Amino acid sequence: MSISPRAQSFDVAAAQYAASRPSYPPALFDTIEEFAGRRLAGARVADVGAGTGIATVLLRERGADAVAVEPGERMAAVFRRALPDVPIVRGDGNALPLADASFDLMVYAQSWQWTDPGRSVPEALRVLRPSGALAIWWNTTAFDVPWIREQHERIAHHCGVKPRSAVRPDDGEAVTLAGLTGLRVTRRQVRWSRMVPLDTHLANIGSRSAFLVLDEAGRHAFLTDERERLSRAFPDEAVEETYVVDLLVAARP
Ligand SMILES: C[S@@+](CC[C@H](N)C(=O)[O-])C[C@H]1O[C@@H](n2cnc3c(N)ncnc32)[C@H](O)[C@@H]1O
Repeated sequence: MSISPRAQSFDVAAAQYAASRPSYPPALFDTIEEFAGRRLAGARVADVGAGTGIATVLLRERGADAVAVEPGERMAAVFRRALPDVPIVRGDGNALPLADASFDLMVYAQSWQWTDPGRSVPEALRVLRPSGALAIWWNTTAFDVPWIREQHERIAHHCGVKPRSAVRPDDGEAVTLAGLTGLRVTRRQVRWSRMVPLDTHLANIGSRSAFLVLDEAGRHAFLTDERERLSRAFPDEAVEETYVVDLLVAARP
């Protein structure tokens, strides 16, 4: 496996990741079933870049026969403790340790960006059955919620990257960016939110790769400042995080 340092960064914070990262809403899985043209119940599904199993557990609840692929040793260890009955293999999306034509659905929950589509698309197509589909998605920023947009800008500034604008790419650009050109792709945004204690919200921010590659002092300074700011905005320390899941489902043309 050849995984970039930033892609590996999750491994150092695997327990924090499992405890603080947002899950995914039921409407996402309804949409995957609609776009893929089949129920998850009974489907053979590979969850690639499964991490600590946040998506895997939901796929299993839907009745999918899910297996996980994950390159990170510590992420896989947390996964095994949480889901001891679910098969997990160490590997990555660019060279899947899975047999040809053996899966109905390949999913990449917030992990597709760590693969090289020049390799991961042919790999997914090799592993999928002829009528199969691949689904990729991300919990993205709800830019229309002012405090979330402002926090996004503070994070970008602190990490030395350009903040993104409120506008997500149009469908054609999203397909090109994901390297899915030439496939039959459908896309939908699914909005949802969760209420979490302020501590969980801050741990969630701290578990992002952009923070995990900063030094301890840089992380601490940002999170201390953010705690003060958000304690004023949310005096009861209950934070509503709003997300827009950006989902793309691709199949052979
Ligand atoms: C943001 S986490 C997502 C974890 C999980 N799917 C979820 O929904 O919470 C990204 C995961 O992708 C994994 N990863 C990194 N490089 C990868 C690659 N080339 N192929 C597959 N997974 C990769 C990381 O180890 C990490 O577990």
